[in-house]
Order: sequence, then C-alpha cells, then structure tokens
Amino acid sequence: MKDVRTDGQPKRVFIRTYGCQMNVYDSDRMADVLRPLGYALAEAPDQADLVVLNTCHIREHASEKVYSELGRLRDLKTERRAEGRDYTIAVAGCVAQAEGEEILRRQPAVDIVVGPQAYHRLPELLAQVARKSAAAGVGGKRVPGAGVLDTEFPPESKFDHLPSPQGIRAGSAFLSIQEGCDKFCTFCVVPYTRGAEYSRPASAVLAEARQLVAAGALELTVLGQNVNAYHGEGPDGSTWSLARLVRAIGEIPGLARLRYTTSHPRDMDDDLIAAHGDVPQLMPYLHLPVQSGSDRILDAMNRGHGRDLYLRIVERLRNARADLALSSDFIVGFPGESDADFDETMRLIEQVGFASAYAFRYSRRPGTPGAALTDQVPENVKVARLAALQALVGQQARAFNESKAGTTVPVLFAEAGRKPGQIMGKTPWLQSVYAQGDPRLFGRIVDVRLIEGYANSLLGEIVTGDYEVAA
Ligand code: SAH
Ligand code: SF4
Ligand code: F3S
Repeated sequence: MKDVRTDGQPKRVFIRTYGCQMNVYDSDRMADVLRPLGYALAEAPDQADLVVLNTCHIREHASEKVYSELGRLRDLKTERRAEGRDYTIAVAGCVAQAEGEEILRRQPAVDIVVGPQAYHRLPELLAQVARKSAAAGVGGKRVPGAGVLDTEFPPESKFDHLPSPQGIRAGSAFLSIQEGCDKFCTFCVVPYTRGAEYSRPASAVLAEARQLVAAGALELTVLGQNVNAYHGEGPDGSTWSLARLVRAIGEIPGLARLRYTTSHPRDMDDDLIAAHGDVPQLMPYLHLPVQSGSDRILDAMNRGHGRDLYLRIVERLRNARADLALSSDFIVGFPGESDADFDETMRLIEQVGFASAYAFRYSRRPGTPGAALTDQVPENVKVARLAALQALVGQQARAFNESKAGTTVPVLFAEAGRKPGQIMGKTPWLQSVYAQGDPRLFGRIVDVRLIEGYANSLLGEIVTGDYEVAA
C-alpha cells in the first residue's frame, strides 16, 4: 500500500471515538496500526482520506448518533469522488460488532465494518477495499453495499498483533488489561459486543506499562469492562489477580499515579481493598457502579449482589483508605422499578455520599433479557427520576469539591482551561482544577492551592517556587 496519496500529500486518518475509555484506548491503537501504512492523524473528517467511527452500542441514543454521522460522511465521500479522489469510511467498535452487515445495508457508503476484537486486521481490510476500488476503475463507482466486514472474535488476541503504543497525551495513559464480560447483567450489551471475558498476561501488561512510563506517562489507568475480574497469567504460570497486578505496576519507577476502571462490586476482593491502603500510587478515587439501591431491582438486573454487600464494601474501602472518593453509575427506570425501589436508590446515595456519579435512563437494548420484560417504565417517569437523582448527586459532588477548598494538592495538568491563560488538570480524586498557568506544565504534576469548589470543578492557584519548567 502506498504511503502517500496520488497528489503527493501524506494520507490522513480521522478517528472519532464514542463510548467508554476502552474505546479511547482502541482508537489510539488503531492509529498505531495505521501509522506504518503512512497515515497521519487528521483534525477533522474533511481533512482525512480515511475516517474511522469507533462506536458505542450501550444505549439507543449512542448507536443512533452513528447513523446520522455516517450520513454526513457519505456526503463528503460524494464530493471527494467528484474530485476523482478516494474517501474510505470505516465503522469500528461496539455498533460494528452488534449490527455488522446491517450497517452496510443502512449506509452503503461504508467501506469497512470492523469489530473491537478484529481491528488489528485493519491493514488487510483496507487492502481489500483498495482492490475492490481498483476493480471498479480509477474514480469508478463501487457497487453499493460492497463494503468489507470483520466482526469475528479471532482465535488470536488483537493484543499480540498491535504495535507498541506511541505518544502519551499530557502525562496520562490508558492501558487495557481485560476485555469482555461474562456477567450478563440483563440490561447490558457488552457481553455481546465485546465477547467473553479475557485477561491479558501480566507480563504483557507490565511491559506495556513500562513502555508508557518510559514514554512520559506519570499516570496510568488500567482498563477493562470488568477490570477487577482480571485473572491473567503471571510470569511464574500462576494466575494473577488485579491486586497483584496493581502492586507490580506500582513498583515501576517514575509512575506517580495509578487508577483502574471499571469495577464490579462482586469482584472487590480483600487483597484489592487492602491495596488501596498500601499502594501509594493507587489514587484515592474509585468508580464502583452499583446501578440501583433496591435489592429487588439488583436481582432483576442479575447484578449478583444486594445493597448491603455494596455498603459493606464501601465501608471496608474507606477503612483501608480514609480519603477514598467514590463514584458510581445508576440506571433509573429499569423494568419493574417502582417508586419504592427508586427511593431505595436515593437512600443508598445519601448513605454513601458520592464524589461524582453518572446516571442514565434505562434504554431497552435489543437482544438483552431486559428488553423482553413487560413492565417497562414510562419515559416521563424515567425523566423525573433521573432529574431527582442528578440533583442529589449534584449536591454531593459540589459538597465534595467545596470540602477540598483551602487545601494544597498535587494536580496533573493536561490541557488548556476555559479562560485565556488558564490550564486544567486533575486532582488525586479526579476533580478538574482550573488555574492560571503555562501550557508547558501539561503532563506535569504540580502543587496547587484549591481556592473554591463548584459543581463540576475547582478553581486553584499554582503554588509558585515549587516547580520548574524546562524551557
Ligand atoms: N462494566 C460496568 C459498566 C459498563 S457500561 C459495570 O458493570 O458497571 C457503563 C454504564 O452504562 C453502566 O454502568 C450502566 O449504568 C450504563 N448502561 C449499560 N446498559 C444500559 C442500558 N441498557 N440503559 C441505560 N444505561 C445502561
Ligand atoms: Fe455490562 Fe454487567 Fe458486564 Fe458491566 S458487568 S459490562 S454492566 S454485563
Ligand atoms: Fe460502549 Fe462498547 Fe464501551 S458499548 S461503553 S463502547 S464497551
């Protein structure tokens, strides 16, 4: 495959990422796979020769967005074709996995549909597309719907076929260590889109972690749809838990911060809870989704635990690390959820006190057991419950941010702030902090005095004299 376009310009790829952090990781890996083919990154779809939509199927709204974006890309493709140039459209991620050929039927301008476990094969898929275009003649019309599809769960792991990760964004990197899910919560598509649970071998994870730290990562977030179910093969042949892996990653010299997400309450084992007390790199913030506070609903969701177990885990985590901040996901309006069930959720939120939380209206996903349940909750009830829940967690988030005002904390700066001269970074509790500062601090950890806490962020002041900026 040629490294440059026929007009001598480098080829460019634009990758749009929807959904969770695992998709963010995958998008970066796709860029790594495409780089040896000569693809540089484009800033926008109209500057690209290849566009990849890395999609999310978790809620109806998420997957519908993809089709409207594809409509716009089809128009761009038509314009390019009129200029005698090529434009390749690829759909990757969880919609690709779930809908497969249906995408090619609904939008024939799509050239490639590739699932989350198959994108290491993008070069072959692009070659197939090129062969089809050549067969149709230069600038010729391709037969509608003649796109190529790869939504297999190949026997080889994509991780064994991906090049080393390149480039660290502002001192922080994601690292996927576990994929897929065997839990089959009755609302969720992930077991179908990502496949069965798979843990990467510990040595591969450690090697990638060392590379990322050597490339400038001060913070690593290890990822998995069910990250604390990690059970990878250890270098000695034994099975490593997440706790064991976290302890090993914590020993990498130069790594200042370590996080893991997303966890399931059922897999919070004793050693992992203890690690929060004795691994200093492990940040005092944990996303531990509970979804509902009602035992009846948790049971119908097939979560495999009740509210008491969740509350007990929270208590034990806080005993291990007193300043641990918690966040959660909630679904309101799961089929059969009564006012009393919802009230139980609100009581649980009051009891725990979250630093942040994400709440969603239940979305009926085709093929999941929840979709077949008859007692669906009316949309207006879901809307009202969502508003009440968000108001409560909003108050808690604000109170949490306000409680940090007046303290001085290390902040990892990452990007420009909202106002001129401002930069934005994260506290150990994953709060966003805005401060006047130099962009040369991106990717650095600097002490910041927190002045005021708001609903979603804090205002801070860099403690001068405590840092140096390399010119
Ligand atoms: N593995 C994680 C969640 C992954 S999906 C866990 O077990 O908690 C991210 C979040 O999307 C979920 O926590 C849930 O709150 C939400 N979600 C998943 N399916 C949904 C659906 N059908 N409707 C609404 N929200 C959903
Ligand atoms: Fe989905 Fe449940 Fe698996 Fe999380 S644990 S990914 S919510 S099936
Ligand atoms: Fe969405 Fe797939 Fe992640 S459905 S949330 S992109 S695992």
